[in-house]
Amino acid sequence: MTTCATNGMLETRDGLVYQTGFGNTFESECIPHALPKGRNNPRKVPYNLYAEQLSGTAFTAPRAENRRTWLYRIQPSVANGTEHIPRHHHHKVTTTTPAVFFGGVDPEQTVVTPRPLRWKPKPPHPANEECDFIDGMSLMATGGGSPLNKNGLSIYMYCFQTSMSETKRHFYNADGDFLIIPQQEALLIHTEVGRMIVHPKDICVIPRGFVFSIHRHNNDTSLESFARGYVLEVCKGHFTLPELGPIGSNGLANARDFWYPTAWCSATTPADYTYNADSKHTLMRKFGSQLFPKQLRHSPYNVVAFHGNYLPFMYNLDRFCAVNSVTYDHLDPSIYTVLTCVGSEPGTALADFVIFPPRVMATDSNTLRPPWFHRNTMTEFMGLIAGQYDAKEGFQAGGASLHSCMTPHGPDTMSYDKAVLDHCAMPVKFEEGLAFMFETSLIMTLSPVALKASYLDVDYEQCWQDLNADLFIGWDKFPTPKEEEQENEEE
Ligand SMILES: [Fe+2]
Repeated sequence: MTTCATNGMLETRDGLVYQTGFGNTFESECIPHALPKGRNNPRKVPYNLYAEQLSGTAFTAPRAENRRTWLYRIQPSVANGTEHIPRHHHHKVTTTTPAVFFGGVDPEQTVVTPRPLRWKPKPPHPANEECDFIDGMSLMATGGGSPLNKNGLSIYMYCFQTSMSETKRHFYNADGDFLIIPQQEALLIHTEVGRMIVHPKDICVIPRGFVFSIHRHNNDTSLESFARGYVLEVCKGHFTLPELGPIGSNGLANARDFWYPTAWCSATTPADYTYNADSKHTLMRKFGSQLFPKQLRHSPYNVVAFHGNYLPFMYNLDRFCAVNSVTYDHLDPSIYTVLTCVGSEPGTALADFVIFPPRVMATDSNTLRPPWFHRNTMTEFMGLIAGQYDAKEGFQAGGASLHSCMTPHGPDTMSYDKAVLDHCAMPVKFEEGLAFMFETSLIMTLSPVALKASYLDVDYEQCWQDLNADLFIGWDKFPTPKEEEQENEEE
């Protein structure tokens, strides 16, 4: 069922209609007049819908940060099946099954290492195993506290072959917001407030609490094909656009290029809407890093109308307006921030999402084009969505790297040697690739699985070892203090 009425500007792509503008308050309805006017919670909701508020911030959060959405749905979320709480004879609540951790790793069992790390593209599960978006998630790194304290962040890589429509699973994350970056294959995402089709070079954000399911858009069922990408989860606050400071009121990711879904219901007849006892539709709830399944009685995609400012959204990275130096040197990579999640101090992010997009690089003849060598108090996790990265030869699309707090890194020998000879006579259009970085002020611990993975690039550090001391010619021109001493003694 398609949307018949919305306000604001609309964009259409892949047959879906989106509303535009970062952080706006949106209204949308599947059928005319479903949205109550002038009040949120009337005794008689149009068409006998139920009103339900989804709060993304504390009720009393400052107005500029306050996020909530009113949903008008065929049944409230609470009327979607019951759960049996197992008890033993002493009336003590027990769990009968061992904990299942989202991303395959107990965050308490993660480890630390100061080594620079790089991974090749994560391979898919064996083709004969059914694997959907949830099964296909691998926790790579986590840090900054537990979702139980509503703090910290986690980084995942996913690979899956099976749409959640096939596994009949639906999902919500009570722990935080997901930023999803498809690297291979477009995703069709069903959410309570509408659908999005997210291609590689798009990103999407699904905030805490929304029920959604992820499907392969192209429906390719050949055994070799699969979807792959990256996910950043933030467990504190929500993503916002970075401050622009002296850049002014335009540039980087512009607010009007963020797209929000329009109201949609998965079923228009009671027969399609109701799940019978054998249909085994399951809601997977991520709560405190663990997965809790629950049998569903009916489709969770039954919101006929909504209004509010707490919503999933998507953004096409081609729309990013990059800014950098056109005189000499280059600016810190923060100049490429798409979205940020504010940390404990102003200007110090819990997580920044930064991209290195195709762009014209124009500089003077004495600037080294690739990024400088550096050590950073922030932790940097990088991924490559497509093509090549300009400072590394061995960094593959679909792969990743991690440079933790104070771990030295920079261009590899081959890239450095090439760049030193480059006189930068003409501006160069860099259009070979699209890389991104998650940058956090927190120290991350690593999944022991990721550290043992077959796709870990065990020789990564080799790429810098030929940057040797032979190039230094200072002592040929000036005597060392020791030689000077000897000369004095001889006199
Ligand atoms: Fe770096």
